[in-house]
Amino acid sequence: MNYQLLVNDKHPIAKTDMEKITLIPVIERNQIFYLEKKVAKQYLKLKRKVLRKTGVIIALDSAYRSIEEQQCLMEEMIQEYGVDYVSNYVAKPYTSEHHTGMAIDLTIYYQGKYLTNNFELEKAYEEFCKIYPFLGHYGFVLRYPKGKESITNIPFEMWHIRYVGVKVAKKLKKRKHVLEQYKRKL
Ligand code: DAL
Ligand code: ZN
Repeated sequence: MNYQLLVNDKHPIAKTDMEKITLIPVIERNQIFYLEKKVAKQYLKLKRKVLRKTGVIIALDSAYRSIEEQQCLMEEMIQEYGVDYVSNYVAKPYTSEHHTGMAIDLTIYYQGKYLTNNFELEKAYEEFCKIYPFLGHYGFVLRYPKGKESITNIPFEMWHIRYVGVKVAKKLKKRKHVLEQYKRKL
C-alpha cells in the first residue's frame, strides 16, 4: 500500500488506486466509519495512547469518504456554511484524501459532548494541541498545518490528520514539511 499517495486539487485520485485500498469498519459512538486496514489499527493505538497520557478522548468525525459521499458533503456544507467557506475547506470529489481511507477528521469529547462543527472544534484548539505530539509515533501528520496554506491550498485544519507511515511522519515533522514537499523531493 502506498501510504504516501498524494491526493489534492492537482492530483485527483485514480479509480484504480481507490480499488486497491482495503477498508475495514471502525465502530465508534454507534456509527460505522471505514479506514484503510493499517490506518484503522494505528488510529486505535493513537486513541488509547492519547487518552492514557493526556486524558483527551479523541474520536472519528469523518474517515473514508466515497466520491458520492464527498459530493453530498459538499452540498450539505454549502447549505450550512455557504459557498465561500466550502470552496476553501471541502475538497471537490476525487481531490479529497478522504477517498484513500488514510485521512481522518478528529473530534474530541469536550465539556460533556463530542464536538461536531468546525467552529466548536476551533474553540477547543488547546485540547487538540495535546494530541499533536503523539501523531508521528503512530505514523500520522497534521496534514494542513498553519503556514503551509500556499502549498496545500487548504486553510489550517486542526482536525484533519493523515497516515503516511511512521518513518515519513517523523521525517515530515523534523523538516516541517507537508506531503506535497516530500513528494517533490523524491
Ligand atoms: N477538508 C478536506 C480538505 C477534504 O474535504 O478533503
Ligand atoms: Zn478531513
